[in-house]
Amino acid sequence: MEERLLMVPGPTNLSKRVREVLSRPQVGHTDPDFVKNFSETVQLARNVFRNSKGHQFVFTGTGTVGMEAAVAAAVEPGDSVLVLNTGYFGQRMVDINKCYGAGVEELGAAFGCHADPDAVRKKLAAGRFKAVYVTHVDTGTTVCNPIADIVREAKSAGALAIVDGVCSVGGIELDFDRIGADIAFTGSQKALGAPPGAVLIAVSNDLMAQLEAKKDRVRTYYANLLRWRAVMDDPRTYFATPAVQLMQALNQALKELEEEGLEKRWARHKGNAKTIRDGIESSRIKLVVEAGYRADTVTGVWTDAGAAPAIQKSLREEHGIDVARGLGENNAKMLRVGHFGNLTEAQARFFVDSFIQSCKSKPA
Ligand SMILES: Cc1ncc(COP(=O)(O)O)c(C=O)c1O
Repeated sequence: MEERLLMVPGPTNLSKRVREVLSRPQVGHTDPDFVKNFSETVQLARNVFRNSKGHQFVFTGTGTVGMEAAVAAAVEPGDSVLVLNTGYFGQRMVDINKCYGAGVEELGAAFGCHADPDAVRKKLAAGRFKAVYVTHVDTGTTVCNPIADIVREAKSAGALAIVDGVCSVGGIELDFDRIGADIAFTGSQKALGAPPGAVLIAVSNDLMAQLEAKKDRVRTYYANLLRWRAVMDDPRTYFATPAVQLMQALNQALKELEEEGLEKRWARHKGNAKTIRDGIESSRIKLVVEAGYRADTVTGVWTDAGAAPAIQKSLREEHGIDVARGLGENNAKMLRVGHFGNLTEAQARFFVDSFIQSCKSKPA
């Protein structure tokens, strides 16, 4: 099958070496080579979060399982939590918290605007909250929230700080040690350049101690981090069968990330994002997110009402590029362009040229 340039907000194009790993013969999850490979993956995951002190988890499940594991670890029924709802995935955090019986207060922002740390401080001063949830990059609006400032506000108010890094980790700076969050998580299919299906979670020692203390009151089976801890310590321990090939592919993708260097990778994402945003704006096409808070991993673009499907189709059929449309009511007037993982500078420029051509042939 012809290779397309996948620029949806995840999954992303896989490297040749990752694809080769995916076609290896099946091995069992207790195979000594797999066990060694998986232990290395947990360490590589630590490195990508910069989680040198806390606990690190990697298991089969998507980003949503990471959200659920975080909520189940943080709250018990009746706890009050604050969710910074800056888009589609903020809303999902609200819904998951409600499922677990938490009383949810939301702090919203206009579409395409960021969560304001001052507003967070005021909200936290007005009540007692067990946890604060923030989405680093909301893939629905493509806004990038100032997580370091928000985590600081949460911690100084005595709340747990939980960061959804699904659309950022590996592409935008998220330094778990430095910001002092209690949980941050991502999925394999975004900036890490691996196939979908693995969740990676960094957890503070404080939160792990709280989890220990509530033991039998954790209201999830599969997403209970206490159950996964033994597997992380010794991957020969059985809890649930890992997606073996996926974990091997993730290992390869994380090795490639280390070869590149985390900071160089953040810089590449920043450079490509700038190329894409500048190219789009030079054609007088409007970006969705306010200046200063645009993500380096995904960009939202407004089109004329109803024009998004035609531009998406032209990009796909005439240039071999896949992008995504807006979610919900923005489906026909917004495009979302993923530019993370392995995207090169040349591919970013190719996208800009193709996009401008597609917009000229179809009204943007
Ligand atoms: C910010 C964010 N959080 C959570 C998720 C959910 O991840 P998944 O689709 O892997 O379950 C996504 C998916 O796009 C996301 O972008």
